[in-house]
Amino acid sequence: DLTIEPGREGPAISDEMYGVFYEDINRAADGGLYAELVQNRSFEYAPVDNPDYTPLTAWQPAQQGGSAEVVDDAGRLNERNRNYLRLTADGPQGYGITNTGYNTGFALREGAKYDFSVWARTDQPAGTALTAMLRDPSGAPLSQPLEVNVRGDGWAKYTGTLTATRADTRGRLEVSAAGPATLGLDMISLFPRETFKGRPNGMRADLAEKIAALNPGFLRFPGGCLVNTGSHRAYEAPDWERERSYQWKDTIGPVEQRATNANFWGYNQSYGLGYFEYFQFAEDVGAMPLPVVPALVTGCGQNQATDDPELLQRHIQDTLDLIEFANGPVTSTWGAKRAEMGHPEPFGLTHLAVGNEENLPDEFMERFVQFRDAIQARHPDITVISNSGPDDSGQVFDRAWELNRRHGVDMVDEHYYNDPAWFLANNHRYDSYDRNGPEVILGEFASEDNKFHNSLAEAAYMTGLERNADVVRLASYAPLLSNVDYVQWSPDMIWFDNARSWGTTSYQTQKLFMNNVGDRVVPSTATEDQAFRQVVTRDERTGELIVKVVNAQSSPARTHLDVGTDVEPTARVTTLQGDPEAENTATEQPIRPVETTLDSAAREFDHTFPANSITFLRLRPA
Ligand code: AHR
Repeated sequence: DLTIEPGREGPAISDEMYGVFYEDINRAADGGLYAELVQNRSFEYAPVDNPDYTPLTAWQPAQQGGSAEVVDDAGRLNERNRNYLRLTADGPQGYGITNTGYNTGFALREGAKYDFSVWARTDQPAGTALTAMLRDPSGAPLSQPLEVNVRGDGWAKYTGTLTATRADTRGRLEVSAAGPATLGLDMISLFPRETFKGRPNGMRADLAEKIAALNPGFLRFPGGCLVNTGSHRAYEAPDWERERSYQWKDTIGPVEQRATNANFWGYNQSYGLGYFEYFQFAEDVGAMPLPVVPALVTGCGQNQATDDPELLQRHIQDTLDLIEFANGPVTSTWGAKRAEMGHPEPFGLTHLAVGNEENLPDEFMERFVQFRDAIQARHPDITVISNSGPDDSGQVFDRAWELNRRHGVDMVDEHYYNDPAWFLANNHRYDSYDRNGPEVILGEFASEDNKFHNSLAEAAYMTGLERNADVVRLASYAPLLSNVDYVQWSPDMIWFDNARSWGTTSYQTQKLFMNNVGDRVVPSTATEDQAFRQVVTRDERTGELIVKVVNAQSSPARTHLDVGTDVEPTARVTTLQGDPEAENTATEQPIRPVETTLDSAAREFDHTFPANSITFLRLRPA
């Protein structure tokens, strides 16, 4: 039996309840959401990013007729973009290099336009013709050649458009010059004209659209472990340290002036997608932006607390500057930079997290409180989010919570990756959380695989999150994105290669929860069973009761529903159902929502929830 009590009010559910956690892991940015097709466009790859890298990774120089070498000398493009390519073409037959992109190459669509750009200079007073062209791996042309005339020995940007003459998923970009000439080349870039919302320096449309379709309430970014690992020192040329924590000021302004960084997950990260782009993306998809800044306690196994008061103060000031960048007037220093980048209106930042999964709770709290107090002295309306360490239980967790409570923290970020049995067994986790203590953001959760039985367990668990929406204010599955050829972490919500993307069974599950949240919990009860869970909410706009039932049992559950009020006989039903071992892949997505209509809804009626199913019933009051 499932009994609903529409006369009683449960907790209000925040509009932001379910969001996404975006981290540049599994090549989520370069080679993923960032639509740039050229890999290693600024020749900054180095073994410190990944032992397999050289500055010419993803580039193939021609065999004869010249030379190509990456140099780091005073002729560089700028202090943050230190390496550049010296291309020497011996004779008029020309000499070039070819970029092979990510995965199998560029996924080109016939007739689609691609925006080419390059920073270049030449030693030839009369100028040098530089040709850009799309080719397949055999060298066959995939576009007409585009010629730009490089003039002068000073760096300048040259642009043009290439149109793909046929579809190919193995596209390459060849850039060649006629000699004799020695050129400097840097930031060799190719973007599809079509990006999400047509933004320049924008996002890959299919991936961004899949995220937008989730209807996320918030966007937590840019990590994760990459936020607080590595050195916290500022970028200082020429003593540039790779493996720096994610410092937002490195990621704004013209892309050619953004340094790259060794990403914690083992690759080079361009920061082409930076804080401006993330704020704008959050706005584009209607999500609350939720940045995470390092707390100066290096996390994710590195476990060191910075004992440098000056460095700490600099990061606190950077965080205040971040708030000014997001919200300040265009007359302020950082608000002006936002306006210069094309967004004079404020981004409306309201929440910000300091730190991610610190394993040293005392050291973390000592520093967190300094950030929090400085922020709240200037911006009392900003919610500053703390965390409970890397696990859902244990000594670090207990101590972190004790300190969070003691210091009157507003909101605590919990993370856990557990097996499905844990998610089924722990539905009541938040029932006993102190309603007068900090609120919770469940910033990262997932059960350990991408099979449908994992999603069933996650869905069952989410009924408990929603029932406790007065404590759990925000929640996001993690991680969001993974490129099939560059995997550091699995499971993930959305998978992709260069040409295709697909939502896992957990994507479909999250999407249904995120598009059927409701505004208030309506108390309900059902026979207590780990594998049969329910939650009911009300959509205040339509008055509908949204009955969400997870039947993770291997047999159908014939259920008597007592709605407690008269409802229209016709109800919308959305179901995810299938083999618990099923997985959505590039070629087959067996677990997809099925929409049906029910004609027999009433104050009391029977309904069968299929075996291994997640059902959303929308009941309209009569
Ligand atoms: O989501 C992957 C990683 O899991 C995140 O970087 C980190 O916060 C957690 O340990």
